[in-house]
Amino acid sequence: MPIITVFNSKGGSAKSTTIAVLADAFARQGASVSVIDTDRQRSIANWLADNPASSIRLVEEVASTRIHQVIRNEAAKSAWVFIDTAGFSTDMRTPVMSRADLVIVPMQASPEDARMASEAFALIRSDEETLNKPIPARILWARTVPNFPTRVEKQIQEQIAEGAVPTFSTHLHERSAFKAIFLEGQGLAQLDADRVTGLQKALDNADSLAAELAGYILSGA
Ligand SMILES: Nc1ncnc2c1ncn2[C@@H]1O[C@H](COP(=O)(O)OP(=O)(O)OP(=O)(O)O)[C@@H](O)[C@H]1O
Ligand SMILES: [Mg+2]
Repeated sequence: MPIITVFNSKGGSAKSTTIAVLADAFARQGASVSVIDTDRQRSIANWLADNPASSIRLVEEVASTRIHQVIRNEAAKSAWVFIDTAGFSTDMRTPVMSRADLVIVPMQASPEDARMASEAFALIRSDEETLNKPIPARILWARTVPNFPTRVEKQIQEQIAEGAVPTFSTHLHERSAFKAIFLEGQGLAQLDADRVTGLQKALDNADSLAAELAGYILSGA
């Protein structure tokens, strides 16, 4: 079953949010989903801890010696396996990369993020050498404001496009609902539309992103 992870050494680059939004989207559509939290910060574990209504299976594993077995177990159980990773390089990186069908590199359109994302890709390329196999990786523009890219954002997005790095065409837009799920410990569909602005837009955004991801996985792209 597809194994999807996130990687970017930059703290706060939207890794855990990406994992939560995608896991939640596939679970909402009725798919079986496991999330493996390998980050000692436990963002995903905390998100799921107080939500017995969620069908998402949570496994916490911070030991690189056990991660292969944990991924194998979850891949046998669930239609989708998502792995959240820590915001820094650990001995967990290569084992997780070795099993990933896709590594998502979330980044914001800022010069600092561009530098860190290129470092992330350098580490992924180094893991490809170590493992002697290709590791599919794709940039995801995160926290963008729909329809209003700034000049700097446009410039950075153009630079990335010139580098021919695979990129999601769907962005993970800046939406308060993507914060609210962590605040409330709930999935998007459980949130109260009267209290969370733009909830439907966030649901549509999450579904588009999940559909684009499923398309890549099905086509082997
Ligand atoms: N699309 C979004 N809309 C609104 N807020 C967002 C979005 N993406 C991320 N955030 C917020 O940005 C902050 C950092 O996001 P997140 O925790 O997902 O990053 P991270 O890469 O997992 O961080 P770390 O490296 O610490 O694990 C959080 O407060 C999160 O709520
Ligand atoms: Mg995180």
